[in-house]
Amino acid sequence: MEQEAGTIVRVSTAFGPDYPVIVEPGVLDRLPVLLGELAPAHRYALISDDTVFGLHGDRVMSLLAGTGLRVEPFTFPAGEASKTRDTWAELTDRMLDARFGRDSVVLALGGGVTGDVAGFVAASYMRGVPVVQIPTSLVAMIDASVGGKTGVDTPAGKNLVGAFHPPRLVLADPEFVTTLPRAERAQGLVEAVKHGAIMDLPYLDDLERSMAALLQAESEPLTRAVARSVELKASVVSEDEREAGFRQILNFGHTLAHAIEAAVSYAVPHGSAVGLGMILEARLGEALGVTAAGTSERLSRVVRSLEIPEHLPPGAAPGEIMSYLGADKKARGGETRFVLLSELGAISKEDDWSRRVPAAAIEEILTTAVTT
Ligand SMILES: NC(=O)c1ccc[n+]([C@@H]2O[C@H](COP(=O)([O-])OP(=O)(O)OC[C@H]3O[C@@H](n4cnc5c(N)ncnc54)[C@H](O)[C@@H]3O)[C@@H](O)[C@H]2O)c1
Ligand SMILES: [Zn+2]
Repeated sequence: MEQEAGTIVRVSTAFGPDYPVIVEPGVLDRLPVLLGELAPAHRYALISDDTVFGLHGDRVMSLLAGTGLRVEPFTFPAGEASKTRDTWAELTDRMLDARFGRDSVVLALGGGVTGDVAGFVAASYMRGVPVVQIPTSLVAMIDASVGGKTGVDTPAGKNLVGAFHPPRLVLADPEFVTTLPRAERAQGLVEAVKHGAIMDLPYLDDLERSMAALLQAESEPLTRAVARSVELKASVVSEDEREAGFRQILNFGHTLAHAIEAAVSYAVPHGSAVGLGMILEARLGEALGVTAAGTSERLSRVVRSLEIPEHLPPGAAPGEIMSYLGADKKARGGETRFVLLSELGAISKEDDWSRRVPAAAIEEILTTAVTT
């Protein structure tokens, strides 16, 4: 099978050399060799959250130490609450104390939180040292580790302080997903569904057919999905790194998702909000005559198969969501930009990849989401 040899996706970036994303079960074993080729360093700082380090840290440490590479671990408490300037400050202080120099490389071993924080540490440490992303969650493999965005959350909002700092290498070993809790797998698969929905109907078909196996982290379908999602995301960010235009298509489902998350103070997981956001944005497109009839029904089915609720979470009142969209009644006549599908597998492009939608149409869709 083609996957056994692994899939290598090259991502181009204006911020440095092209970098490979290698998707292959067991590729972690090749980390020392790949570091020698693509990210040689005097010392390696292995940044990880305590959960992932507890599960996989020893193996990575001994892999590197066993080949004579100098590596030291720097861990922080798992969870989005750690994605802060405080964690960034603590990690950089600890690296300074340990006298890491300019000839160091940061290894980010973990989910998207680790990738974003460690990436930002690397972007700023001594004005920038290389980072190698070793994603261990599905979200990190198919989304966060590709594209070069790094950063932290602030009290004013998520991801508001950060930098573009593309990695030298992304090592996506689907075997990590076997220790990832099932609910976290589902969260990542939502973004895979999004990739299929915006760009690749056969991929969406494949995901839908394989969903039970994917949720169980079966190696073959999982590797195929990670590889295809990475290819799709890489093709988008290689074309439009700075989100000037085309990259916006990755925001499908996310305009409403972000407003829903804010309306419930992030009490709903991001993937669940995106699952619901995709269904509602498809309904919106259908109501506007932009999206083919039946699209939202099919997305509902896929989201249900991920064991993710397809209704608004308790406490997410339509009015509240509207206010977070900046399209509430106070801003009468307010409009919000949405990325809308023309059909599954294709975005509807008018003069731009997103289009303005009047507040009344959005409000109507949100109201149906409460009552159905
Ligand atoms: N930079 C980007 O382009 C980009 C894109 C998407 C998401 N993100 C960011 O990614 C974050 C979400 O990523 P996430 O869902 O991976 O969150 P996360 O890093 O918090 O990981 C989720 C949970 O799974 C655990 N975990 C990770 N891998 C594991 C494994 N193999 N086995 C067992 N447990 C494991 C983690 O410890 C954590 O508790 C958000 O902060 C989001 O903003 C960034
Ligand atoms: Zn997302």
